[in-house]
Amino acid sequence: MLRCRVCGGAVRECLDFGRQPVSSAFVDPAHTGAELFFRLAVGFCTSCTMVQQLEEVPRDEMFRFDYPYRSSGSTVMRKHFQQTARQLLDTELTGPDPFAVEIGSNDGILLQDIAEAGVRHLGVDPSGEAAEVARAKGIRVRVEFFEESTARAIRAEHGPADVIFSANTISHIAYIDSIFRGVDALLAPNGVFVFEDRYLGDIIEHTYFDQIYDEHFYLFSIHSVQAMAAQFGFALVGAERLPVHGGAVRYTVARAGARRPAPEVAELLARERELGLGLPETYERFAANIRRTREDLLALLRRLRAEGHRIVGYGATQKSATVANYCGIGPDLVSAVYDSTREKQGRLTPGVHIPVLPPEEFGAPYPAYALLFAWNHAEEIMAKERQFRESGGRWILYVPDVHIV
Ligand code: SAH
Ligand code: TYD
Ligand code: ZN
Repeated sequence: MLRCRVCGGAVRECLDFGRQPVSSAFVDPAHTGAELFFRLAVGFCTSCTMVQQLEEVPRDEMFRFDYPYRSSGSTVMRKHFQQTARQLLDTELTGPDPFAVEIGSNDGILLQDIAEAGVRHLGVDPSGEAAEVARAKGIRVRVEFFEESTARAIRAEHGPADVIFSANTISHIAYIDSIFRGVDALLAPNGVFVFEDRYLGDIIEHTYFDQIYDEHFYLFSIHSVQAMAAQFGFALVGAERLPVHGGAVRYTVARAGARRPAPEVAELLARERELGLGLPETYERFAANIRRTREDLLALLRRLRAEGHRIVGYGATQKSATVANYCGIGPDLVSAVYDSTREKQGRLTPGVHIPVLPPEEFGAPYPAYALLFAWNHAEEIMAKERQFRESGGRWILYVPDVHIV
């Protein structure tokens, strides 16, 4: 029987996407053939309800020195993290010499404003090339994985942290017990551990099945995070819904008894009970919706190709690794994917090997259809690529269901 990585309870399998590649492993066309695959399957804990993957991809396979993701590619996300930094500076980093640590600081999208405010800070991220980008902005980064030993070393060198922040990273870390022991070692007595991640409620409600890929080891809900915090001697004292990445939640965790929970925690928990996130039938419905999306998307792409239309992809997201590999969408259906990330251009997407090209080539000439893999940036991308629509092109979306706009 499979055991929950958080509480040790029994895990029941509920989704199986089959053989999948490492979603950040964009392939050098000169060196194909050495890709790592794993079985992408998901279960939920019958005890604490945590939704989690059944197979773990080794962390060094995912978060390498040359990890290609760059947070600052989106203006919307830059604005989001500017506001987040402001909020932390105004509410938590107000003491005489405050200290903030970020887990998964990437290119410094959040710490930038904290550094500019002159506040002591430290990013921790194994992605060395992304860390170089952050350092060029004057941000301090340790290039390593955060875990208990890292936290103890930071504590010894810099003293306790008033805030430990993390965005879109804690859910990526299977060895969660070491993270919480590290937070326990590093956090000041009345400090807060604030992390935000994609929300299970939105993923199920809108069939965002592509949010499930190797890195998203856990899919958090308010209930499961509350149970997880309690398991490690902490308490969930804040929960805030965020519109980013199709729907996320910012969790504020403090030492048990240190702070009074905000009323939003109970409110969001009550709403969550209506979603049935702990019930097996919820996942059966989710699985059926996913199968329908796969059938509808394949039928549409095949029909358009049979009619002689050229279809491309937009946004070489890591999410799209699940869509393309689970649905079997290769270069025969989608001839290229356009993406602004320099590190991805000239490479092939993981598994199905669709070439990644720079957006400057998108309009030379425009295709008939563009499958929007980066649907979470729809507004920003559609505004930027207005001419595509004006020239008669059409966007294909597959969330919350398959449709053309
Ligand atoms: N916080 C940014 C980046 C998210 S991508 C944002 O929200 O946009 C996830 C980042 O976490 C990557 O840069 C990856 O290298 C880093 N990461 C993964 N595991 C980590 C760990 N155990 N400790 C610190 N960083 C980690
Ligand atoms: P994102 O959806 O943030 O994440 P993930 O890879 O985790 O699924 O990735 C967005 C991708 O889309 C990223 O590779 C950059 C690209 N992109 C563009 O090409 N143009 C744009 O205007 C934006 C906002 C993103
Ligand atoms: Zn559990």
